[in-house]
Amino acid sequence: MKIAVAADHGGFTLKEEIKEALAAQGHEVLDLGTDSEASVDYPFFGRKCAEAVAGGEAERGVVCCGSGIGMSMAANKVKGIRCALVTGEEYARLAAEHNHANMIALGGRFTAPEDALRYIDVWLGTEWAGGRHDRRVAELDEML
Ligand code: RB5
Repeated sequence: MKIAVAADHGGFTLKEEIKEALAAQGHEVLDLGTDSEASVDYPFFGRKCAEAVAGGEAERGVVCCGSGIGMSMAANKVKGIRCALVTGEEYARLAAEHNHANMIALGGRFTAPEDALRYIDVWLGTEWAGGRHDRRVAELDEML
């Protein structure tokens, strides 16, 4: 699967770990920056990743900042994006199954790399349930 990743300085280290692990699993990773721990503004990178997913350049997106909050806010401002801030395995499952999340946001300052990789695994491996959730997700997509 082609997966876009992006981070600010608070999520840079986690993004690098995620990038390596996804590539090792055979995914094609599109790294949209940032490239160091130097301070940058998360809206730019969140938007860049979201636009790559919304535009079809990548199938999914993973964004990391210090808390994951700012990145999720930025990504969700792009039409077609459903980005979930994931802080646990069950959240990763629900983001896929109920919300059809095409992006997730993770907090680099609060998420151990091994946990982040587990959440991503669960998210990518969980099927969208559709059914009663279909209408709700369509309603979300109509908002922008
Ligand atoms: C940067 O210090 C921090 O605010 C950012 O990484 C993120 O946590 C924002 O939501």
